Amino acid sequence: MSKHTISITKTTNPKPRPDENNLVFGKYYSDHMFIMDYDAGQGWHDPRVVPYGNISLDPAAKVFHYGQTIFEGLKAYRTDDNRVVLFRPDENWKRLNRSNDRLSIPAVDPEIAFEALCALIDVDREWVPSAPGTSLYIRPYVIATEPQLGVSPSTKYMFMIILCPVGAYYSEGLNPVPIHVESEYVRAVKGGVGNAKTAGNYAASLKAQEGAAALGYSQVLWLDGVHRKYIEEVGSMNVFFKINGTVVTPALNGSILEGITRKSVLQLLRSWNIPVEERELSIDELVEAHRNGKLEEAFGTGTAAVISPIGALHYQDEKLTINEGKTGELSSRVYDTITGIQRTELPDPFGWVVEV
Ligand code: COI
Repeated sequence: MSKHTISITKTTNPKPRPDENNLVFGKYYSDHMFIMDYDAGQGWHDPRVVPYGNISLDPAAKVFHYGQTIFEGLKAYRTDDNRVVLFRPDENWKRLNRSNDRLSIPAVDPEIAFEALCALIDVDREWVPSAPGTSLYIRPYVIATEPQLGVSPSTKYMFMIILCPVGAYYSEGLNPVPIHVESEYVRAVKGGVGNAKTAGNYAASLKAQEGAAALGYSQVLWLDGVHRKYIEEVGSMNVFFKINGTVVTPALNGSILEGITRKSVLQLLRSWNIPVEERELSIDELVEAHRNGKLEEAFGTGTAAVISPIGALHYQDEKLTINEGKTGELSSRVYDTITGIQRTELPDPFGWVVEV
């Protein structure tokens, strides 16, 4: 029984659902969405599930001008026995509130967020796809809605959740992608908002991403903004390298997003007794490891792609091919285990999966 009264208004005009075998990431949206408003003095109020559709905002709403907004991303999976499960939703609510705090947005009660998501999924349960490799991508977010052009925290917000059935994030799937090491632009700096899941970080990444794509690369490898030397992230994902038997990932330093898949991969590797290091890792160390034949595997981790192997790094005029451009053994093992747990096809020793 829900502790919070979430009103539910169902659509009278359900949409045809897209072909599950041809889902494109982020293109189709389910029939309903969740909205809750915030007003200073009143707090969060009026939680409701309503038909998916346009919202009306004042053109002066602060989100349009100063980017006071944060978002989350998680997935729901349909199991073989037709249940719907989520992967570590508590971690998303914790991160949502860390991001809220950094952007001076009032916290959202994790209990209300979870109940909101359950109510929304319940109404749109048929939208959780079942074809192999598909899932329902869940996008919770907060926007600042006060119509006021002064640079100050908004006094009004909306917390919303939308749902989209998705296939693979990258058309390459688990096939390795070539990556361009970005030397002109940076994604974030320590003390900035790099560790918050906020729109500006993604807007800041587009120019470099466009440049890399024009050169034939799928993503960029981000270096730190101060020394332009230490590895931070790959595209919109955290990044892991297997160097001489040890798995190394950049330590969380304030400019790196604390990925939930990153955290899960680290837990898994440690449970397998594979040596793991969270530390500073320079591009020079990677180049050197490659030269000595010790750079064995590289992969990105994120909610959308889960694991995305890196087949080659383009750095200055060099192309460093990794594992002959093939998907590595460890990348496959991690991918199979995490997706197996997510879909309840494997045991869940860590208690990560939550049925809704
Ligand atoms: C992820 O890798 O899960 C992301 O954050 C990508 C998302 C922005 C589409």
